[in-house]
Amino acid sequence: MNKTIEKIVSLCKQRGFVYQSSEIYGGFGAVYDYGPLGVELKNNIASYWWREMTQIHENIVGLDSGILMHPKIWEASGHVGEFHDPLVDCKQCKSRYRADELSDDIENEKWDKIKCPKCGTTGMMTSPRQFNLMFKTQVGPVEESGSTAYLRPETAQGIYVNYQLVQGSTRMKIPFGIAQIGKAFRNEIIARNFIFRTREFEQMEMQYFVKPENDNEAMREWKKKRVNFYTETLGINEKNIRFHEHVEGELAHYAKEAWDIEYNFPFGWSEIEGIHNRTDFDLARHEEYSGKNLKYFDQVANERYLPYIIETSAGLNRMMLAVLSDAYWEDTENNRTVMKLHPKIAPIKAVICPLVKKDGLPEKARAIVDVLRPHFNILFDQQGSIGKRYYRQDEAGTPYGITVDHQTMEDNTVTLRHRDTQKQDRIAIDDILNIIQSSLV
Ligand code: GAP
Repeated sequence: MNKTIEKIVSLCKQRGFVYQSSEIYGGFGAVYDYGPLGVELKNNIASYWWREMTQIHENIVGLDSGILMHPKIWEASGHVGEFHDPLVDCKQCKSRYRADELSDDIENEKWDKIKCPKCGTTGMMTSPRQFNLMFKTQVGPVEESGSTAYLRPETAQGIYVNYQLVQGSTRMKIPFGIAQIGKAFRNEIIARNFIFRTREFEQMEMQYFVKPENDNEAMREWKKKRVNFYTETLGINEKNIRFHEHVEGELAHYAKEAWDIEYNFPFGWSEIEGIHNRTDFDLARHEEYSGKNLKYFDQVANERYLPYIIETSAGLNRMMLAVLSDAYWEDTENNRTVMKLHPKIAPIKAVICPLVKKDGLPEKARAIVDVLRPHFNILFDQQGSIGKRYYRQDEAGTPYGITVDHQTMEDNTVTLRHRDTQKQDRIAIDDILNIIQSSLV
């Protein structure tokens, strides 16, 4: 099967997972909207992440901080000074590239000898210039220097500046974590590969505060837990997941050690989550810039220290693209496309179909809908042939098809069709809820 990103983009649009933003105006670069199926899938993934962090771990709590924050936060974090991409321009055709796309050694590269990949001209490439990725905005009615604010490029800083308040109000002892899901914004220059790299996206970040000498142990623990989330919770094929360690030169300005979890996308292995040892870099910088003491008081050891932070930082949109890529299957034998989503994250759990629109079958099907609807998302569909109805739902990733036929009117049984195998069982109406619910764990 030739699984391409173009095929996934096309299915996402047709079935209502993801649309290009502002399409009627010709689109808006590197921003996407999530349609009825997409928003359900995205919410399901996010709620499993949230559950795994805050419900399963008694020492991790949640937070929802603002997108706009005090601008000094971004000076302290290093984003004003360091959050740059080096860019080069072709003076001939005006194409713009991230320098690392064209060279492995940006500093020593002879840029005037580089050939433009688009127009093929050699000798017209500029030297790299630094371009800050943060979006700036103005706060208040007057445009003046003091009113500049930034749209946050990561959710992490909202956690760091609130960490003492959270610790104080929950009385948690180190080690403890704070989890947050929210929007982040980056003025990406080269945005491509659909929802992989966009200007507006969602992060799911958890910051784990540990005693400095326990950082390596915490790093090991979280690497293991995070990789299990992809394979066990989301049901992604483990062959498509791997670690990549950041070597000298790749490490972000705040990190002592960093690992990416990568997924084997149709366009190649790429990062979906970063696990970073940020040491006490951020808290020390916030102490310096705010003038506030941010040390943690360890009552048992009777000492004060700045905790080290192990960060797990995942992109929700990238995670969703990994899930979609993994689920995409062309069943050539049966001439259909199937999204093999795990039932627990599938946007719709079952489609209920009366075989024909008469003889009381629609009413019987509606009665089943009424029983199931309070428990999970389902769909009633009586349009078109039964085969077409099933195939539409195969593309939507709906794991079950329930058909009400004439036999149903006699013995209160229905057919239950399984999406991947197309196998059909005859089951009692009273058993439907249990059967579907038991597949959602
Ligand atoms: N707080 C650390 C941090 O933000 P990062 O590696 O820059 O680290 C973490 O980003 C994750 O956020 C990435 O692994 C990716 O999943 C997601 N992400 C980053 N930039 C993105 C973008 N432009 N579009 C979509 N997701 C992005």
